[in-house]
This record gives sequence, structure tokens and C-alpha cells, in this order.
Amino acid sequence: TTVLVLNGPNLGRLGSREPDVYGSGTLEDLRASLESTATEGTTIDLRQTNDEATLIGWLHEAVDAGQPVILNPAAFTHYSYALRDAAALVTKAGLLLVEVHLSNPHAREEFRHTSVISAVATGVIAGFGFDSYRLALDLIERRLG
Ligand code: DQA
Repeated sequence: TTVLVLNGPNLGRLGSREPDVYGSGTLEDLRASLESTATEGTTIDLRQTNDEATLIGWLHEAVDAGQPVILNPAAFTHYSYALRDAAALVTKAGLLLVEVHLSNPHAREEFRHTSVISAVATGVIAGFGFDSYRLALDLIERRLG
């Protein structure tokens, strides 16, 4: 199985971006961590973009390829109905889509308390740094294994 690990805007800056909130690990560290967590037979395809259209295109790809998705929509979480509709295509196709966040958005500013994605995700893991992604990967492997 190939697991798509999709990251939205500003997550390419991990490591230097607000390390007090997001930790000091980079996106490459995250990739390495997931690759070492993945069991045999699981391939990690980790990507990041600042562009909404690109992210939507990747979700369409997941539908066409039948691939499970770990999605950190970053700020799009809070307002992108277009991304939500694309995420719905994934779960309506019967594929797992786990929404993840490094931080716990509910413990932060009011505008972060709303996710327009959660209602169409299979489930949500937030607040555990890179472990949010590792737990999501573990869940996907359990469900598919
Ligand atoms: C985030 C939380 C969002 O509110 C924020 O815009 C991000 C990262 C997280 O992983 O904690 O960019 O999705």
C-alpha cells in the first residue's frame, strides 16, 4: 500500500516556523520518521504544497489510485470548502482519510476551532506533533492490514 501524506501551506517551513508550536523537526525529519515507522509493504509518499489547487489535484489522484490519505490541510482546514469537497470524494470512494494536526487547534485562536474538513474525514488526530502522523499511519495499517 502507498499512503499519501499530504501537507498544506507553510508546512514546508517546519523546523524554523514557530518551533514552540510546531516543534523543531523538518518535513524531511517527518518523512524519515514515517518511513521508519511504516511496516513492510507500506510506502510513504509525502508531499507538501502551498497551493490549494495542487492539494485538490493530489486528493483526486488518491481517488483514482485508491490510496489512503493522511492530510494536514494547515490553514485550509479552517476555510477551504473546495478542499473539503475533494476530501469528501476520497472518503465517499471508501478510502481512509485521516486529518492530522501537529498542534491542538482547539487550544489556540478561535478561528482554528473550526475545521471544514473534519466532517468528511474518516477521523482526526491533533495535538501530538509528528506522533499525530505516526498514529494516523498506524491506524491506516491496522484497518488495511
Ligand atoms: C496546523 C494547524 C493550523 O491551524 C495551522 O494553520 C497550520 C498547522 C497544525 O498542524 O497544527 O498551518 O494544521
